[in-house]
Amino acid sequence: MRREVMNRKELEEQLAGIDITLPPPAKEPQRQYYFIKKLRGFAEEKKKELGRPLYANITTFGCQMNARDSEKIAGILQMIGYQETDAEEADFVLYNTCTVRENANLKVYGRLGQLKRVKKENPHMVIALCGCMMQEKTVVDKIKKSYRNVDIIFGTHNLFKLAELLAAKVFDRPESKKMIIDVWDGEAEIVEELPNERKYAFKSGINIMFGCNNFCSYCIVPYVRGRERSREPEDILTEIRRMVQDGVVEVMLLGQNVNSYGKNLKEPISFAQLLERVEQIDGLKRIRFMTSHPKDLSDELIAVMGRSEKICKQLHLPLQSGSSRLLRLMNRHYTKEDYLCLVEKIRKAVPDISLTTDIIVGFPGETDEDFEETMSVVEQVRYDSAFTFIYSRRTGTPAAQMENQVPEEIVKKRFDRLLERVQEIAAEKTQKEAGTVQEVLVEEVSEKDPSLVTGRTSQNYLVHFPGSPELIGKLVNVTLQESKGFYFVGEQIKA
Ligand code: SAH
Ligand code: SF4
Ligand code: F3S
Repeated sequence: MRREVMNRKELEEQLAGIDITLPPPAKEPQRQYYFIKKLRGFAEEKKKELGRPLYANITTFGCQMNARDSEKIAGILQMIGYQETDAEEADFVLYNTCTVRENANLKVYGRLGQLKRVKKENPHMVIALCGCMMQEKTVVDKIKKSYRNVDIIFGTHNLFKLAELLAAKVFDRPESKKMIIDVWDGEAEIVEELPNERKYAFKSGINIMFGCNNFCSYCIVPYVRGRERSREPEDILTEIRRMVQDGVVEVMLLGQNVNSYGKNLKEPISFAQLLERVEQIDGLKRIRFMTSHPKDLSDELIAVMGRSEKICKQLHLPLQSGSSRLLRLMNRHYTKEDYLCLVEKIRKAVPDISLTTDIIVGFPGETDEDFEETMSVVEQVRYDSAFTFIYSRRTGTPAAQMENQVPEEIVKKRFDRLLERVQEIAAEKTQKEAGTVQEVLVEEVSEKDPSLVTGRTSQNYLVHFPGSPELIGKLVNVTLQESKGFYFVGEQIKA
């Protein structure tokens, strides 16, 4: 974990101007600065008492959105004085949860069960839960009933309030067993200017929008993340510029459907226009984005991708199903033919683009014919990689009410067949890249062999090659010598 916050100096100036002997200000983010400053005093006292800093452990489930949210949480905790640790017996333990599929929920309950014993041994431990699962009332009810050791629960709309909630716990009711629960139903204002702590010094995710308006019939995200809200382009550009000053060379623009970015702003702007402005930031070398809904991928965007020097040659374009009949039931607003036509256009504009996707198997009513349609798209598009999911019934979504839920054995068979084929194609495709020279952004020392470093190409292929840690964060040219399935072994071309 990187220790420095990108605009730390400015944040410190803000904090210096706050008087904690007065009542907290009502305005955000000043209100949160007030609680951060108050908690600092608490952290310092504890440090003296324990002879060590306070430790925090954050576990993140789910997508890139949650990963980015956890960086914000880490930033707030770090400003208070917590040091991050891998140990789950930390003083502050937080699970940032996901509820997109049932098994994401089960993992969290499993962890909470294990923590019961740990907390008995360390009663001062504070356990907090946040993220998408907490937006579901049934989940919060279950935790209230069965996991009494949890101290704080908050949701996706008020993550910025972490310091305030933690202050309520440690100052107002340190001994109380009553849970602090603060989950908001509706989306809130976007609070800018809070600290965050990036996982990597040289690359970062950045939210360009929050929420989703698409209501795909199987998906719970719109219910737990609220309606779509775009950030102001100037806020995004300022944040990226600051990141670049601080050493970032690659950004990943994040949204559930980046292609509809900016439509609801007072002064509307398209995603393609935003990309063009991001492209102009000096010092920024690479741009990625996620996720693109096929229904909103415009010709304007394809053209920008075709001529951009910085946008990586990679596009994640979730298919979900190859059957136009199922796509209609899924509320996806495109047909198999529309999708294939889009792929053709993109490949024409960016011939060496790497395409990846998400596919759901076993959506209610999926017949053998529907599944064959999915297989046929996989054969035609030949994805560089694909995330395949077994349909998971999410209470509250329209698909959960649909009849004809597909029997488990049938789904499993289809899933195995799809996965095998997806992997075969991916292996064939990577095989073809062997021998080429590619620019690699070096990310870390290899876990398996410290004489190697690993990095990613523009197409997002993983490469291991001999090199020293000084290369981390640098772009270097590497010959991809051999494909090992999920990664390449390469050799750096020295200038
Ligand atoms: N906004 C993104 C992704 C959101 S969730 C998009 O539209 O592509 C990531 C993936 O989880 C989805 O693409 C979908 O393939 C999968 N998913 C969502 N709900 C699911 C469910 N109920 N069962 C199985 N997979 C699901
Ligand atoms: Fe879910 Fe569809 Fe929104 Fe993606 S676009 S988050 S799949 S509702
Ligand atoms: Fe999961 Fe929430 Fe992301 S449900 S996939 S963490 S938006």
